[in-house]
Amino acid sequence: HEYDLLVVGSANADLVIGLDRRPGPGETVLGSDLRVHPGGKGANQAAAAARLGARTTLLARVGDDAYGRMLAEAQRDAGAALAGLLVGPTDTPGTVGKDGIRVPGATGAPEAVEGKDAPTGVALITVDAAGDNSIVVSPGANARLTPDDVAAARGLFQAAAVVSLQLEIPLETVAAAARAADEHGARLVLNPSPPARLPEDVLALCDPLVVNEHEARLLLEAQSLSDDPEEWATALLGLGPRSVVVTLGAEGALVAGPQVGAEVTDGVGMVRVPSPRVQAVDTTGAGDAFTGALGWRLGRGAGLEEAVRYAVRVGSFAVTRAGAQESYPTAADVETATGHAPAQGAE
Ligand code: RIB
Ligand code: NA
Repeated sequence: HEYDLLVVGSANADLVIGLDRRPGPGETVLGSDLRVHPGGKGANQAAAAARLGARTTLLARVGDDAYGRMLAEAQRDAGAALAGLLVGPTDTPGTVGKDGIRVPGATGAPEAVEGKDAPTGVALITVDAAGDNSIVVSPGANARLTPDDVAAARGLFQAAAVVSLQLEIPLETVAAAARAADEHGARLVLNPSPPARLPEDVLALCDPLVVNEHEARLLLEAQSLSDDPEEWATALLGLGPRSVVVTLGAEGALVAGPQVGAEVTDGVGMVRVPSPRVQAVDTTGAGDAFTGALGWRLGRGAGLEEAVRYAVRVGSFAVTRAGAQESYPTAADVETATGHAPAQGAE
């Protein structure tokens, strides 16, 4: 495969303000200086994987504006290919090719800007003293990534070992991308974030479905939930995915699926993967780093459990630094911080 990982998803400018305490309705509080970071769950995953050394590309839409250029630069800096980054008029499907990027300034060939163009997506983020964040996303151009764009990008799906999806783009586009992955024999990793109901055939393709507690609770809405992640994983497997990963923040992750762990019932096993203890500075995008790393390892042929062991270390590294993409480690950073290198046998 030309790409270990194709990420289809969102790219946002993250506008971040630190504060001691979030305001209630009608209240005003003062915060830190504003910082602007490249973000968006899709762009974050692609940047995380690329920085680790994955051959990665991102199918996404940004506006023909300064934030779009910042996001393209961030992908390039991380080492991701720009083949799938669409910029410009949103009323026609993008043409995606090796040099499919159409960012004025970056290519030296500015596109005509149409008034109807959507701006680059923006995430308004507050980070509190504990490093926890709250996020409001204005999708902008992300909402204009269409099933037609997926169809136009079939070459990227053909070239990818793993396709990774999240839900900051239209659900119909997510479904089209999942089906395109299946058609081209790519493994599908899907993180339903922000949480929404997924078509059954899309759920059935996930290998794994990656959820945190909040997303697990939403997907399992109809069923009463205990505080036991093993029970959530069992219930989530009942929704049809081939495997499930439940991320547990500082507690690491739970992996469930065929050939996982030692105790296998009906062909399915579960294993808990602990996280190294770290000092949290900013958790923004740590889940995306986890999922990008996971997709990379799976794309290189690692087993699910081994891929999660590595991804947990990448995610825990990301929370120790400010920002999303800027906080992501190289493979050497991960090895220095945690003594964990990607398993050789999996290459
Ligand atoms: O998952 C973190 C991301 O969510 C941020 O980078 C922000 O852009 C929002 O999309
Ligand atoms: Na971070």
